[in-house]
Amino acid sequence: MNAHEKGYFTEENSVEVVTGRNANASSERLKQVMEVITRKLHEAVKELEPTQDEWMEAIQFLTRTGHMCNEWRQEFILLSDVLGVSMLVDAINHRKPSGASESTVLGPFHVADAPELPMGANICLDRKGEDMVIGGRILDTEGRPIADAVIDVWQANDEGFYDVQQKGIQPDFNLRGVFRTGEDGRYWFRAVKPKFYPIPDDGPVGQLLGSLGRHPYRPAHLHYIIRADGYETLTTHIFDPHDPYIHSDTVFGVKESLLAEFELTNDAVRARQYGFEDRFWEVRHDFVLARVGQLRS
Ligand code: BEZ
Ligand code: FE
Repeated sequence: MNAHEKGYFTEENSVEVVTGRNANASSERLKQVMEVITRKLHEAVKELEPTQDEWMEAIQFLTRTGHMCNEWRQEFILLSDVLGVSMLVDAINHRKPSGASESTVLGPFHVADAPELPMGANICLDRKGEDMVIGGRILDTEGRPIADAVIDVWQANDEGFYDVQQKGIQPDFNLRGVFRTGEDGRYWFRAVKPKFYPIPDDGPVGQLLGSLGRHPYRPAHLHYIIRADGYETLTTHIFDPHDPYIHSDTVFGVKESLLAEFELTNDAVRARQYGFEDRFWEVRHDFVLARVGQLRS
């Protein structure tokens, strides 16, 4: 028997026997990860005492989850999202200094090559939906404007679909754009008011949500990735606080600081200046970037 072996497997010593086998793991981190996961998993099995049929059901759920994955669909990430694990990993990896904008989940609908547009451009290419103008400033934690910040935005349309979910129905790159700030750190663009939408729920994760009595919806939001030299990249959203799902986002992505006021403006003169017909929604939201290496206070 090798020094690390603890004897035959029993219900009582299961964790020590299994983790003892990993003594020659290729890295200390892998050994630690497997030690913690084995300990927590065995603890769960001992508490739940699943029947053989229940365990097989769990295996089949994971198998269906894997089969659902392809180039466009990542069911395991959706599973991590609805379990709150994606937001937990995000929180652990983005502890911010005070005053810096908070992050939230990236989601599966970002595309890397959206076009860079002049400030003020309308990202809604099919003009469907309620007009909206949105703007604010990109600042550092001392309130100074950040020039040359690159703002990558994307959102669902007024029916709750991203362009990549409706190829041939929405124009390519509909409701996406990249903007670059000038010396004043200001950004603005035109779009349409986004709507709540379900995460892809035609697979095992959607079935799980149904069995748990949970809905699959995310409250209306706009996505942002903001990059600037010398600053931590910020991946975040802004949310409509009046959305019916604002308190029950299925992926737990909402944070108080990410709520932005969406104001309905009935001003025909200003509407026409923006190229809109009459009334439009107006949103203002500033983002604050942390400097690389800036300590959390
Ligand atoms: C999204 O906001 O695009 C999203 C986030 C998590 C899961 C599905 C969609
Ligand atoms: Fe989204």
